Amino acid sequence: MADVTPGKHHLELSVFPTSPYYARVHVQRVLEGWRRDDLVETAQLVISELVSNAIKAHVSPFAVTEAVAHARPDHIWMDLYPAGGGIVLRVWDACRTPPVLRVPSLDDEGGRGLCLVDLLARSWGYYRPAWSGKIVWCTLAAPPP
Ligand SMILES: Nc1ncnc2c1ncn2[C@@H]1O[C@H](COP(=O)(O)OP(=O)(O)OP(=O)(O)O)[C@@H](O)[C@H]1O
Ligand SMILES: [Mg+2]
Repeated sequence: MADVTPGKHHLELSVFPTSPYYARVHVQRVLEGWRRDDLVETAQLVISELVSNAIKAHVSPFAVTEAVAHARPDHIWMDLYPAGGGIVLRVWDACRTPPVLRVPSLDDEGGRGLCLVDLLARSWGYYRPAWSGKIVWCTLAAPPP
């Protein structure tokens, strides 16, 4: 069944290093169109992390094994829509493996993206749609005046 959430903006993205940039630009343009400039900076930070993670997951050796089994497409997608005075951001990738919030030590080179999402989002999580892959989502609230 078609997803008819009112006001939803959907964007397909290549599994390619420039995609976090295009995701940031898209989020900025959409939020400006909604007169939600107050959310632009946070939404750009968050979408950048979620899209980067989706790309990494998509090209990981584990995901490649899944690709053979499920004939994965060579793209990910993102969407955003208004909800509860804030917005919801969602990113789909073809890998069924869940995201894991890590507590990075000072020496760790990675493991900070989801920490950032966890700090900035009102809530976040993931689910696995029946058709394939998974969706990592987060909600952003309007910042206090
Ligand atoms: N979309 C995803 N699919 C599968 N695993 C994910 C996904 N997003 C995150 N993860 C897992 O959760 C871990 C933590 O993600 P996080 O973004 O915090 O760190 P990172 O991507 O490893 O490093 P950094 O974001 O600091 O460059 C990742 O190392 C990965 O194992
Ligand atoms: Mg990351």
